[in-house]
Amino acid sequence: KEIFLKDYKMPDYYFDTVDLKFYLGEEKTFVSSKITVFPRVEGSSSPLVLDGHDVKLLTIRVNGKELKENDYRVDSRHLTLHSPPGGTFTLEIATEIYPQKNTSLEGLYKSSGNFCTQCEAEGFRKITFYQDRPDIMAKYTCYIEADKSLYPVLLSNGNLVEQGDLEGGKHFAIWEDPFKKPCYLFALVAGQLESRDGSFVTRSGQKVALRIWTPSQDVPKTAHAMYSLKAAMKWDEDVFGLEYDLGLYNIVAVPDFNMGAMENKSLNIFNSNLVLASPETASDADYAAILGVVGHEYFHNWTGNRVTCRDWFQLSLKEGLTVFRDQEFSSDMGSRAVKRIADVSKLRNYQFPQDAGPMAHPVRPHSYIKMDNFYTVTVYEKGAEVVRMYKTLLGSQGFRKGMDLYFKRHDGQAVTCEDFFAAMRDANDADFANFLTWYSQAGTPILKVTTSYNPEAHTFSLKFSQDVPPTPGQSVKEPMFIPVALGLLDSTGKDMPLSSVYHGGILQSIAINNKPVYTAVLPVTKKDEEFVFSDIPEQPIPSILRGYSAPVRLETDLSDSDLFFLLAHDSDEFNRWEAGQVLARKLMLSLVADIQQNKQLVLNPKFVLGLKSILSDSSLDKEFIAKAITLPGEGEIMDMMEVADPDAVHAVRTFIRKQLAQELKEELISTVVNNRCSEEYVFDHPQMARRALKNIALAYLASLDEPEFTELALHEYRASTNMTEQFAALAAIAQNPGKTRDDVLADFYNKWQHDFLVVNKWFALQAMSDIPGNIENVRKLLNHPAFDLRNPNKVYSLIGGFCGSRVNFHAKDGSGYEFLGEIVLQLDKLNPQTASRMVSAFSRWRRYDKNRQNLAKVQLEKILSTNGLSENVFEIASKSLAA
Ligand code: ARG
Ligand code: ZN
Repeated sequence: KEIFLKDYKMPDYYFDTVDLKFYLGEEKTFVSSKITVFPRVEGSSSPLVLDGHDVKLLTIRVNGKELKENDYRVDSRHLTLHSPPGGTFTLEIATEIYPQKNTSLEGLYKSSGNFCTQCEAEGFRKITFYQDRPDIMAKYTCYIEADKSLYPVLLSNGNLVEQGDLEGGKHFAIWEDPFKKPCYLFALVAGQLESRDGSFVTRSGQKVALRIWTPSQDVPKTAHAMYSLKAAMKWDEDVFGLEYDLGLYNIVAVPDFNMGAMENKSLNIFNSNLVLASPETASDADYAAILGVVGHEYFHNWTGNRVTCRDWFQLSLKEGLTVFRDQEFSSDMGSRAVKRIADVSKLRNYQFPQDAGPMAHPVRPHSYIKMDNFYTVTVYEKGAEVVRMYKTLLGSQGFRKGMDLYFKRHDGQAVTCEDFFAAMRDANDADFANFLTWYSQAGTPILKVTTSYNPEAHTFSLKFSQDVPPTPGQSVKEPMFIPVALGLLDSTGKDMPLSSVYHGGILQSIAINNKPVYTAVLPVTKKDEEFVFSDIPEQPIPSILRGYSAPVRLETDLSDSDLFFLLAHDSDEFNRWEAGQVLARKLMLSLVADIQQNKQLVLNPKFVLGLKSILSDSSLDKEFIAKAITLPGEGEIMDMMEVADPDAVHAVRTFIRKQLAQELKEELISTVVNNRCSEEYVFDHPQMARRALKNIALAYLASLDEPEFTELALHEYRASTNMTEQFAALAAIAQNPGKTRDDVLADFYNKWQHDFLVVNKWFALQAMSDIPGNIENVRKLLNHPAFDLRNPNKVYSLIGGFCGSRVNFHAKDGSGYEFLGEIVLQLDKLNPQTASRMVSAFSRWRRYDKNRQNLAKVQLEKILSTNGLSENVFEIASKSLAA
């Protein structure tokens, strides 16, 4: 059933207190709830509808009296009380559930023998009957009873108020959460776990106990997560003045988890891969992800928990904002420019395609069938860009004022995106014009700009015109409010001072405190708009959309030589990188055209020289260099084509990589050699930057498939003392089929078979391989003893990894599509959320040629005609076919 934002209605009943009791068992688990209910309008006694799914009702009482059969109705999704008393009353419900059979990993389930929960978005209804919606906020207590030897640790939200032993080898714990919360933030964990303990003293002097729980053998791998948590707590105090509000903060790592992590009040539950790390087993990327996600879940305590969402359409209110906060946190802990580049790459490679496909939806969707399908890169990453634009427009201080007002107004409330917008506006007396369209319009705006210099008048003009492409359900679009951060470079490469600009017929000052600026933020709010700078003494080279100030596709009239100039000189590091990417995208597209016309491929020598000077520029940050010599992804290029041609794009990218490796051989070899390091592993920017640069140089060299470089990669593989370098060397070797590849892959597995997180990397590396016919190997790996379709991480590694190989997933013979079709149907019976993420790989099927379209369509149709299909998969598959 499709649910619409416009149909939102306030609840007829609110819940004040909720007392839960869990009796955890091997065959069945009893859950009882005692809820204080009051009607929104005093005296009204309209029916009370509770959600419930896969829950067996035992008894139901109102004000202590058991209800008769005709007082209520139960169907497969609801429990309806026909006529509640009319004032405040207590509702007691006893139910039975079967967590050991729950493979959906939603609600209460077992993972590696331990009980845990995942309630967001609508999983609480799988635990007990409830008004499962975020605008129902109540105070909870939770009593847990279980076998003491099997489940020595019993956790829930808030403070532990009592615990003790019971007869028959059982024990209990009682938890009380003093803060009101929606049920999606409820959590329970019971199992054999041990903790790493730490503590943090807040700036007002409150001592907080920090505990990170895992099976005992993994406790040594939680040091980095603990470091990350403390750093996040400190950062939120320093940057936003936000303190933690309880005496205890728990994080539990579980191996079976659908998503990354969950911000349950004071009891975060994490996918193991975002907690566990050691230098030997985790890569720099893993360390960075742990820092970011531990921060993310911690930051939710204010943006999400203290202030939550009125309904699920507002998801970006908490997720966009919290992603923005975790991005800023990671920037402050490492390199801001590199973090920005990584975030923009993610947006381009994943969100842009979504925004141009059948699942395109606004940051605040208008409707959904299954909410789980809307935990998307649009809601998260584009949502974070929307929050970033407020900051770009208001400055750091103005943004902070807006945040302060937001908490002042809404602490303890369930609110909407307009409430956030209003706080930002009101705190700053700002004119945000048509800014709200960012929440309601899907599609990536195309922003075109043409520039001209008038040497007599010394003026420089920029003419902008914008277009938002049509998306499903939205054929006509309004213009958007696009903040364009801009600098003008003089002929020596320096930023010109900017103090005023003609706009809309008036001269406007852009100086701050009477001082000129070097980056101006131009508010583009109309379809067509012109800005004219005066007192510009010479023809400038414009650096447009600095720091990627808005999530748009920018098309400029910059020439290649302008772009090479920006690549060499721009003071904005993001745009410096971007200039190289624009050049690379143009180059790749023109070579794709050549290959399609059977022309000989030749690489522009200027491009090679540009990259060479970046590679040998010792003044540059090494991680920046690594990013700058990385070519745009295949997906990014296909996204820019009329008809996506995976084979041509792959061939071109491979050609350029090899050509660069050939022509920059000497530089690349010395890059590898000079960036070896025997120091002990540290997760800090200089060391990570060094490893990043060394690893990409090695990958380039190994792509040549010459014995000398295979030897070099083997040497690096053997000499490595950390996973970052070991895995990079393995991946470098694995580019080329042959005996060396097979041997090293086998060696790696033998070394790491006891560590399932490392084994997942091994699955992913093989699954993603572009080696022709790799589907055979992937099918074989499905039967590998270490593979298990019930574990989402393994599915993402092997199945998700395979779909990441454009050439093999989109194989002409349809073998990739057929494979995915089979897997989706098997997976849907076990775990609809994971199945639905996998079926999304089909969603852009219309981008390909007729032959591929037909083959993909057959699979989508087969999936849709299957009996008992989940709503999750149905929504993605049917929307993919319809659009
Ligand atoms: N709120 C979690 C986060 O921190 C994600 C929960 C996802 N749940 C789901 N059913 N999709 O981003
Ligand atoms: Zn989140």
